[in-house]
Amino acid sequence: MTQSFSNSLINWYKNNKRDLPWRNTTDPYKIWLSEIILQQTRVNQGLPYYNKFVSQYPKVLDLAKAPEDEVMRLWQGLGYYSRARNLHECAKSVVKDYNSEFPKAYNELLKLKGVGKYTAAAIASFAFEQAVPVVDGNVFRVLARYFDVSDDISQPKTFTKFFNIAKELIPDDYAASFNQAMMELGATICTPKKPDCENCPLSQECEARIHHKQSELPVKMKK
Ligand code: ADE
Repeated sequence: MTQSFSNSLINWYKNNKRDLPWRNTTDPYKIWLSEIILQQTRVNQGLPYYNKFVSQYPKVLDLAKAPEDEVMRLWQGLGYYSRARNLHECAKSVVKDYNSEFPKAYNELLKLKGVGKYTAAAIASFAFEQAVPVVDGNVFRVLARYFDVSDDISQPKTFTKFFNIAKELIPDDYAASFNQAMMELGATICTPKKPDCENCPLSQECEARIHHKQSELPVKMKK
């Protein structure tokens, strides 16, 4: 069962993925940059910022050396300015504490400023092919619907539940594709409103679709 989930998902992803620049690299710096930019930001809005940052600062050392006001200026328009300050601080710490190389271990990545569980898993899997699942709103939605999990996703302990479900599903040899595919499915097919079940590679065995509960899942008590 877990195999058919992952195989169907990854196959669908190969044929349907959007061509996004951070998907064509295994450079942890560029992956980190893209994930920080894409927190609370849509792909279309984040894309030009990603391109600006990569061309202005091709390496983490370039970003670390940049003046704070220049970094803030480049970030202008994206909002949540603490992200930009953390970004700069994180770059400086990678240079100073890690000899300009992002650490590989998930637990080490978690120590970096502004890097939470989601971003650490993204870097560990996309850059280093480690089988650590990314869990964000997209992933909550896909898994809650497929397995009919009605735990409240606003509760911190629910994260662990979904992390463990995804950990069972993620293949060791296709960790990056699996994670990208989960995000992509949640963003383009398994959307909050009017999910496109007709075109979903997982619809056959999706509990929410079978029982017409798509609009009830995932459960979120707090707003
Ligand atoms: N949003 C956050 N991370 C993303 C990624 N890697 N690809 C597409 N959208 C995303």
